[in-house]
Amino acid sequence: MFNFDKKTELVIQSIAGFGAKTGVQVFFVGGMVRDCLMEIEIKDIDILIEGSAIDFVQGFALEYGKNCCDGTSCNNKEGLDVEIKSIHESFNTAKTVINGIEIDFASTRKEEYPKSGCLPVVTKTGCPIADDLIRRDFTVNAIAARVLLTENGKLKYEIIDPYFGADDIKKKSLKILHDKSYIDDPTRILRGLDFSLRFGFDFSKKDKVLIKEYLKSPDREGLSIDRVKLTLKKLFSEQERAKEAYLKILENAYFKIWQDAPSFEKEWAQRLYDAVKIFSTEPSKVFMAAVFENFRTENSSDSSHMDSKLSENASNYEIYNFYKTLSNEDLALRYAILDDNLVLHYFKNLKDIKPDFTGEDLIKEGFAPGKSLGEELKNRFKNKLNALSQRA
Ligand code: CTP
Repeated sequence: MFNFDKKTELVIQSIAGFGAKTGVQVFFVGGMVRDCLMEIEIKDIDILIEGSAIDFVQGFALEYGKNCCDGTSCNNKEGLDVEIKSIHESFNTAKTVINGIEIDFASTRKEEYPKSGCLPVVTKTGCPIADDLIRRDFTVNAIAARVLLTENGKLKYEIIDPYFGADDIKKKSLKILHDKSYIDDPTRILRGLDFSLRFGFDFSKKDKVLIKEYLKSPDREGLSIDRVKLTLKKLFSEQERAKEAYLKILENAYFKIWQDAPSFEKEWAQRLYDAVKIFSTEPSKVFMAAVFENFRTENSSDSSHMDSKLSENASNYEIYNFYKTLSNEDLALRYAILDDNLVLHYFKNLKDIKPDFTGEDLIKEGFAPGKSLGEELKNRFKNKLNALSQRA
């Protein structure tokens, strides 16, 4: 079912072989299995170990690697190039690159949510696969594939699908695994929206009711704002989807996950969409700033520029000075939200204009270094800008 290229297949075979040898169960899980069942390209290889992922990876590096896990060369000349990039002790996870292929290893884990919306607390790692699957968001993401080797060393897979996720993939239906799931993690509502826009999935009838219920009285006391931001960032990562997601968040009042009333307007959607192209910005940066960050983009320290506007009669020089410190994202936001058309003129006609003279040129002309030289430089640049056409 998984169609890997030869190079990847060899690596997975070795991992499965080490699992068989050590008696440790090895699985693929989550988005990777979902995407495979949907016959779309797999993005990342995530391996789940029923046990300790760190122990597994370190043992694997010793047994199969050209280098030992401490980086010293050992005698296994035929071995794989195993690089352990990082280890996360508390989650018992490891990031590796094996023969040039990035593979993340995680341990099966049990989680609890002490408060609604907070980051989960890991209560156990290395638990049975069933306990790991039930902590997940939707049935379509709670399918595992046990990775095994046949007697003649070929890869084979055994699907573990206790919540009938494969059926839901066929029906394109999004179902959580237990009734408290949206209360535990309301960002799952946004994840569901993401899957609906990417794959045409829809929340099941029951899920729609549960989401409505949750949004009537959302509990934000323990809400992890970072998780909301991360989920929104992913949702807004692509221009077309960002606009649709923005409108759906308003239409379905999903903003209630983090605030009572929206601070953003339906009418901005198209201009935000256009602004992404015009100002060549990452969609997530401007859509996030509009929806969540009170117009603060990743590249701006504050959003005070959103409080003032230039007069339509401003000169090119005034326009240049007003906008010159703003990032493309800030310019895009002004264009979209303030209906600021001068910003287009600045971006297209003025932004890249450079002075014709440097201080040294003026000294050669006979100017003495000092304040008046600075004034002259400024005036020459001002004249150059103001001589250009006044509007786009
Ligand atoms: N997950 C979850 N709840 C979340 C985030 C993630 O249960 N709030 C689980 C899901 O089982 C998911 C897995 O963690 O499949 C991996 O999450 P992620 O990498 O964010 O998404 P994928 O489902 O792999 O999908 P994709 O990367 O294609 O968006």
